[in-house]
Amino acid sequence: MTIADFSRRWQEGRIPSVGAIMKKPKTIGGVAAARIDALMREESKAYAEAHPKSRAAAGSGINGFLFGHPMHWMADWPMPFPFLVKTASGASITDIDGHELDDFCLGDTGSMFGHSPPPVARAIRRQARHGLTYMLPDEDAVEVGSLLVDTFGLPHWQIATTATDANRFALRVARAVTGRDRILVFNGCYHGTVDETFVRLVDGKPANRPGLVGEFRDLTARASVIEFNDIAALEKALAGQDIACVITEPVLTNSCMVLPDPGFHKALRALTRKYGTLLLIDETHTISSGHGGYTRTFGLKPDLFVLGKPVAGGVPASVWGMSDDVASHFRESEKRREAGHSGMGTTLSANPLQFAAMRACLSQVMTPKAYARMDRLAARLAAGLEDSIRRHRLPWHVSRVGARVEFICAPGPLKNGTEAERAHAPALEHAIHLALVNRGILIAPFHNMMLISPATRKRQVGRLVSAFDDIAARLAA
Ligand SMILES: Cc1ncc(COP(=O)(O)O)c(C=O)c1O
Repeated sequence: MTIADFSRRWQEGRIPSVGAIMKKPKTIGGVAAARIDALMREESKAYAEAHPKSRAAAGSGINGFLFGHPMHWMADWPMPFPFLVKTASGASITDIDGHELDDFCLGDTGSMFGHSPPPVARAIRRQARHGLTYMLPDEDAVEVGSLLVDTFGLPHWQIATTATDANRFALRVARAVTGRDRILVFNGCYHGTVDETFVRLVDGKPANRPGLVGEFRDLTARASVIEFNDIAALEKALAGQDIACVITEPVLTNSCMVLPDPGFHKALRALTRKYGTLLLIDETHTISSGHGGYTRTFGLKPDLFVLGKPVAGGVPASVWGMSDDVASHFRESEKRREAGHSGMGTTLSANPLQFAAMRACLSQVMTPKAYARMDRLAARLAAGLEDSIRRHRLPWHVSRVGARVEFICAPGPLKNGTEAERAHAPALEHAIHLALVNRGILIAPFHNMMLISPATRKRQVGRLVSAFDDIAARLAA
C-alpha cells in the first residue's frame, strides 16, 4: 500500500488492521495483535491530526516524484505520510507543523555526529566560496590523507561518494589482487546496493535475495553465503581457495543486531589468511563502536576497510583503505592490466567540498572525547530500555555497539542472520515507531536503531526511555 493509499484510507476510516495484514496471528513479539492494532489506529489518527501542513503537502504523495517519494525508502517510515522537515540541528529535527523531535535516527547514521556539526558547517561555508568540484586535490586533501591513516590505521586510501561505491571498488581490487572471482558474505548482510552481495540463505540454501528489482542474474554464481558466527561453515567455504574476499560488518547491524561470538573475529582473520582470501571490513554502521571504529576498538586487522555515511559529517562521501600488502599486489596487477577503463571511480568523488567536510569531521568532530560521551549516554539508554522491558515482562532484548543501541522484539542474543530475520516484528515495530514519533522521538524506520551523537543530551535520552516505557506499558497491559 502506498502512502497515498494509506492516507486516503485513513481519511475514509479504512486503515487495515495489523491482524488483517498479518493473517491474524494472535501475538506478535509477545504482544496481542489486537493491542498492536489498536495502538496503530490511535497513533495514526493522532499523527494525521497533528500534521496538517505535512498532510496538505505530502499526504497523497509529493507531486512530481515517482509514486510520490523523492527516494523510495521515504515510503518506509511507519507514519501514514512522512512529515516535511523544516530544520535539523544537533540531535533535534523540527517539522513544518512546528513539532521538535529528539532525533535518534540521525539519517540512519549519515548524521550520527549530529546535524550540521559546527566545524563541518563552517568548513562547508568556507569551501563554498572556493569551488565545489574540480577533479584536483587541494590542501585539505593532504590533511585528510594523514587523518585517515592516523584514525583507521591502514596506510593507503581512496575517496568515493557512497559506501556502496566504496565497497564495490574495494571488491574489484580484491578480485584483481587475488585473481579469484567469488566473494563470501554472511546471511542477513547489507553493504549498500552492491549487486553481488544480494544473496541470502533461503531455507538454508543460497539464493538471490528476494525482492530485487530487475535482477536477471543468479548472483550465487559468484557469491557464497553462510551464517555469521559459523566458523566451521566458513572454513569449509574458504577451503576451496576460490574466494577472493570475505566482506562483512564486524557486527551484523542490518537485520536485528547480531554480535560476534567471542573468538569469531580471530577465527575469521586466521582462516582468511590461511586460504589466501582478503578480508574487507565494512564499518559504515559500526563506526559507532569507538574512535577508529570497531576495527581499532577491538584490534581487527582487515586487508580492506570501508566507511561511508558519517565520515564527512553528512556531506556525501566515503573512504576505502587497504594494507601495504594489498596495495603492493594491486600495483603489480595494475602493470598486467590491459589499457582501458578500470571500472572504478565516479566524477564527483574526491571533490573539495568532501575534503573540507572530512577534514573538519575527522579532526574536530569524531574525536575520542566525543566517543567517550556518546558511549556513556548509549549505556544509559540501553540500561533504561532494558529496565522497562524487564518491568513490563516483555520477551524482548537490547543490543548495543558503542553509540548504537537497538531494542529487538524477541528474546536474545541472536546468533546469525536467520535468527535475526525471525526476530523482526514489522507490525509491532511500526506501531512503536509511530507512537514514539507522536511522543516527540524519531528512531530509524528500518530497524529499532537509536544512535547517540555528540550533540545528544541526557534529557533527550530520558525522554526516549520514558516514551518507550509508556508504549511498553500500553502493549503489555
Ligand atoms: C554496512 C553498510 N554498508 C554500506 C551501506 C551503503 O551505504 P550507502 O547507501 O550510503 O551507499 C550501508 C547502508 O545502510 C550499510 O549499512
